[in-house]
Amino acid sequence: MSSEKPITIVIFGASGDLTQRKLIPALFNSYRKGRLPKKVTIVGFARRPWSHDDFRTMLLDGMREFAAEALDEQVWSTFAESVWYVQGDLSTAVDYQNLNAYLNDLEEVPTNRLYYMATAPNFFVPIVENLGAAEMIAEDGGWRHVVVEKPFGVDLASAEALNKAIHAVFQEHQVYRIDHYLGKETAQNILFFRFANTIFEPVWNRNYVDNVQITVAESVDVGHRAGYYNQAGVVRDMFQNHLFQLLSLIAMEPPASFQADAVRNEKSKLLSAIRPIDLQDTVRAQYVGYAQSEGVIEESQTPTYAALKLYIDNWRWQGVPFYLRSGKALATKASEVIIEFQKPPHMMFDFVEDDDFTPNILSICIQPDEGIHLKFEAKVPDQRETRSVDMEFHYRSSFDGASLPDAYERLLLDAIKGDAALFTRSDSIEAAWKLVDPVIQGWETAAKAPPLALYRRKSWGPTEADRLLQRNGRTWRHACSDH
Ligand code: BG6
Repeated sequence: MSSEKPITIVIFGASGDLTQRKLIPALFNSYRKGRLPKKVTIVGFARRPWSHDDFRTMLLDGMREFAAEALDEQVWSTFAESVWYVQGDLSTAVDYQNLNAYLNDLEEVPTNRLYYMATAPNFFVPIVENLGAAEMIAEDGGWRHVVVEKPFGVDLASAEALNKAIHAVFQEHQVYRIDHYLGKETAQNILFFRFANTIFEPVWNRNYVDNVQITVAESVDVGHRAGYYNQAGVVRDMFQNHLFQLLSLIAMEPPASFQADAVRNEKSKLLSAIRPIDLQDTVRAQYVGYAQSEGVIEESQTPTYAALKLYIDNWRWQGVPFYLRSGKALATKASEVIIEFQKPPHMMFDFVEDDDFTPNILSICIQPDEGIHLKFEAKVPDQRETRSVDMEFHYRSSFDGASLPDAYERLLLDAIKGDAALFTRSDSIEAAWKLVDPVIQGWETAAKAPPLALYRRKSWGPTEADRLLQRNGRTWRHACSDH
């Protein structure tokens, strides 16, 4: 670990799901692998009247349930000695003074601090303001970083207001807006694939690419999150953040370095070059049964699925359609990016029918079977016939079955190291809201908005989404999942 200065990690909202499921397993794994600074202290802050031991027991239960494969009980008992709990209210100023006094007591020497907001979004501003008021922000003895979870606002205006409130207390270099999709190994590999190789970049443009498709399909339904989800819907929940972040990795220009600002400048430029989305190029749908879920009203118009087509107005991508889709309760869990290349300009094999000819397709499988596939045409032996074959790279077989770390593990280490390359800067957040706000509002108010379609659970979404591509003679492609 680069920084040997001790670190305190303060988790606000420590009694919640995220702490148990993601944060503690990620921190424990990094600790086990020796990747955290030698002296690390974790302090949970929440309202429940817990003792330190209650908190540790709750975390251990979480490890057993969500990360059993990583749990080494002996290592855990040493790790747990650095875990503490402070009871307090997220909106009460004096509780932050108490917290700060407690932290100062624990920290015998100048210490870095990471503040993690693992709370509901309505607490983000109170936490930031209270940290400022309790003078917990000054970087005199060590750095102070804050990690902000999603959702980052519910529209452009609220995202701008949140950025303003954060910037009133923190400087941008202290702020880490997390999008866990950027921590997935395969999402990071998009940058390596594009920019650590020479053979793909020359064809990565309008001269060779016919269209790009990004699918993030989930088999789970909204489950117990209906209360949140019904306000959010799929565009706020998945597109504004994860899908647009994947899109920017796929489509941005090469940054000059892997420095945070070099990468984030290119992402921001890319998002600003996306043409406003035409409502006629969007599909919204809800799975059958959603409106009967607990906490959802029968008339709910909340989309649990969306598909859209967009264009990027720059030299590289002019005229190339990008199709994005995501939904819940679909046939399978699969996230993939498809680059469909153009057909050959002239087909010299007269036995090849235009209709059943498959163009070259490059598939980047984000999850679950992480890897990259390249589809090309081959001659069928002893036949006057061509057939598509696949060249495949799978993480698991190529890297000796190495298990892929959870996205949070990488992102927490980066926030500790001060590397913001995989975190979203305020301008990108706002650029993404500028694109999706008119779609969400248009669906709610525009006379010509596409109606809310319905789709069956365990299907691949509504037929309207197929028609979105068929209009231009295209189809959704799948390479990473059985279909
Ligand atoms: C979250 C969304 O950000 O991402 C969830 O709020 C969604 O609704 C989840 O299920 C998907 O993440 P993953 O890593 O399981 O693809």
